[in-house]
Amino acid sequence: MSFTYPGATTPALHEVDLSIRKGEWVALIGANGSGKSTLAKLLNALLIPTRGDCFSCGFRTDREENYWAIRSRIAMVFQNPDNQIVASVVEEDVAFGPENLGLPAARIQERVLECLCQVGLEDKRRTPTYALSGGQKQRLAIAGALAMQPNCLVLDEATAMLDPQGRADVLDILRKLHGQGMTLVQITHRLDEILDATSAVVLEKGRIAWEGDIAGLFSRKERFPEWGLETPGLVRLSRRLKERRLLPESCLPSVKEMLEHLCP
Ligand SMILES: Nc1ncnc2c1ncn2[C@@H]1O[C@H](COP(=O)(O)OP(=O)(O)O)[C@@H](O)[C@H]1O
Ligand SMILES: [Mg+2]
Repeated sequence: MSFTYPGATTPALHEVDLSIRKGEWVALIGANGSGKSTLAKLLNALLIPTRGDCFSCGFRTDREENYWAIRSRIAMVFQNPDNQIVASVVEEDVAFGPENLGLPAARIQERVLECLCQVGLEDKRRTPTYALSGGQKQRLAIAGALAMQPNCLVLDEATAMLDPQGRADVLDILRKLHGQGMTLVQITHRLDEILDATSAVVLEKGRIAWEGDIAGLFSRKERFPEWGLETPGLVRLSRRLKERRLLPESCLPSVKEMLEHLCP
């Protein structure tokens, strides 16, 4: 599929042919302006391809009658949690979606608590949302998304505004959700955050420049500069250790894997 914004001369996405399987954790990476957010919006029918077709959870995105089916299955989490919080108290914010589904009050309460537990905010149930830290706000936004019981979560730079602890907390939640079978599309420019993903898609000027598993991605480090990707410190360290044969070529640049090889 391709997508051109109204009035633009070049397509933001050009002949992108991609399938994401159920239960996959796909890292979508690439330089600023490479088309990541556009692709995310095509996935849940916020944008419709200007050429070709997009199917989300089996539904064509260009049929208005499918919008509800698609958007209830594919939830989005964006960069700025303040733009996603709609209520002034934590539990009310999570309840907002289920309330619109017309669920009985007891069922809503149950679901709200479940979702707050998933993101570790159960103790903050009655806290005003303004009193949360940035990381807690983003976890609340994730809880709000989960409250609709989606099959797939699309996170567009969801950690970009967070401090290291906030980022680590969000990643922990992603690992847990993936373990429970949730399909994840994770947009980020921090390569140290994608080590648990099952596959990576690199966008370059609206085209897929590379697609494969994470180990494969890190074996193409020489192309990172042309893809606009920055090599994280841990990746540089692992390359040095591999050059000195202290690590096997197959080792992922994660603290866990590196330690397993260095201090078995
Ligand atoms: N609303 C818009 N109208 C016109 N052009 C846009 C709009 N949003 C994004 N673009 C353009 O589309 C291209 C892809 O943008 P985007 O999907 O936001 O990239 P990324 O998320 O990778 O930074 C860029 O060239 C950008 O300038
Ligand atoms: Mg973007």
